[in-house]
Amino acid sequence: MVSKFFYLLIFLFFYCSITIDSFESFQPEGFNYHNTARIGNKLYFLGGNHNYYHLKNFFYLDLSVPFNKNNPSWYNLDIHSIPFGVSKAAIKVNGTDSSTIFLIGGERNSYNRDTFYYVYSFNSKSYIWSRLEIGGITPKWHWDMKGFNNKNNKEEIYIYGGWSNGLSNKLYILNTMNLSWTEGPDSISSRCGYTVSLLPNGIVVIIGGYVDDGNGLDKILLYDTNKNSWDLMVTQGIQLTNRTYHSAVLVNNEEILVYGGINYINEPDLVVLNTGFQPYKWSAPNVYAPNSPPPSLYGHSADIVGNYMIIAFGYIGIYDLYNHYIYLMDIRNTKNYTWVADFQPEENIVTKTVTTTTSVTETNIVTTTTAVSIITVIPEPFEPPEKYFITKRWSFRLLIECIIIFGSCFLPIRGTNSQDLRKHIDTYFFVLAIYILFVFEFNIILFSWANF
Ligand SMILES: *[C@@H]1O[C@H](CO)[C@@H](O)[C@H](O)[C@H]1NC(C)=O
Ligand SMILES: *[C@@H]1O[C@H](CO)[C@@H](O)[C@H](O)[C@H]1NC(C)=O
Ligand SMILES: *[C@@H]1O[C@H](CO)[C@@H](O)[C@H](O)[C@H]1NC(C)=O
Ligand SMILES: *[C@@H]1O[C@H](CO)[C@@H](O)[C@H](O)[C@H]1NC(C)=O
Repeated sequence: MVSKFFYLLIFLFFYCSITIDSFESFQPEGFNYHNTARIGNKLYFLGGNHNYYHLKNFFYLDLSVPFNKNNPSWYNLDIHSIPFGVSKAAIKVNGTDSSTIFLIGGERNSYNRDTFYYVYSFNSKSYIWSRLEIGGITPKWHWDMKGFNNKNNKEEIYIYGGWSNGLSNKLYILNTMNLSWTEGPDSISSRCGYTVSLLPNGIVVIIGGYVDDGNGLDKILLYDTNKNSWDLMVTQGIQLTNRTYHSAVLVNNEEILVYGGINYINEPDLVVLNTGFQPYKWSAPNVYAPNSPPPSLYGHSADIVGNYMIIAFGYIGIYDLYNHYIYLMDIRNTKNYTWVADFQPEENIVTKTVTTTTSVTETNIVTTTTAVSIITVIPEPFEPPEKYFITKRWSFRLLIECIIIFGSCFLPIRGTNSQDLRKHIDTYFFVLAIYILFVFEFNIILFSWANF
């Protein structure tokens, strides 16, 4: 009896450790045409496409810990996934430090798209997706477009162009405070599959994509969020033809790094648009690649996090393969961009510069003293990553385990009379009760850690 008890406990112990390990083994498959959104220390990945199937993907990369590019700190938000499969949507967070992700349009897994709401939002604090009733004008259903924020008004999300029974030149403005749409001025160019980059001076630089007049990267579209006006600019520097489904990120508030895309002629994957020149100037920078650089990708994502550009997923045209890796480029030295293997999180210490101005007036002399003090703000207490949500697969596993243990109570035991059998059954029930208690208690603790 005692030995059986003992073996069962050992078995449960190992089973539990294996189950706990399986939490961390999330490895996403390859896909493209997804979106990313950064909130605090999390880079969220949403949706995507695999062989014409739109995905409900929803997971994040934990940016608070170091990782190697071959083993990124992924956390799956399985049970909080998007309510439908979606790709080529516009995803935007309102305001820079806001906690709401807006998902607008996109191709979705349904023949009747009207049954879905055009705009959904995800609250990253409550982990809840909501469909939104938006007032004002009703935009046509679009996909393959991008959203950008207005520099002067962080509650507004602008959606330009895209595809809607043809290339679109529309500009729609979503006010996220009173949830209403308004229409901005039509653009002078229709595009989809392009990129947008907002410069600190409020100018939005729209690069590439499928363009109605067939222009390449050397003719870019500009939208001025201060004046609400459109403009086209013919760039200087190296000549570049057209490309679509590339990525663009802003570095040093001035240089736009464009990577990959479907390119008509075999041009360099990495090209840079320097907006410090008038007109803006294209160049192909030096790239140092001690660590295997990414292949040519399209439909991937690129995000700037601290000193790195993080390239993720996308399609490798030459191999006909979906990419399930991420790639890291060290962007500190613009003369020497370097593909690296390891990610180091940004410093946890936030420094604030406080400027105090004191004016002392003496007879006819005004002395102004400006004191600049740097205050070091200690970061908030460490918040454990939310990796312990019970996933669907895991709850299923738990159920199977219970059935097996419960079922085993009724296995015939050789050479026992009915009284001994009774004792055995009692023991099994006792162990089962302890086991269930242990597992649930354990999860409640983990759940409360995760602020669920
Ligand atoms: C972002 O949108 C949410 C939901 O509509 C709203 O409650 C919040 O105030 C908005 N925040 C900003 C900074 O606009
Ligand atoms: C929402 O707010 C914007 C800007 O404050 C305003 O222009 C618009 O009319 C408002 N819409 C509604 C429906 O209240
Ligand atoms: C790029 O240009 C070529 C040649 O004009 C054309 O065949 C191709 O469709 C264009 N691609 C895009 C993305 O506009
Ligand atoms: C670029 O930077 C790497 C280290 O980040 C260094 O090893 C390499 O020599 C540099 N290359 C040039 C051309 O400066």
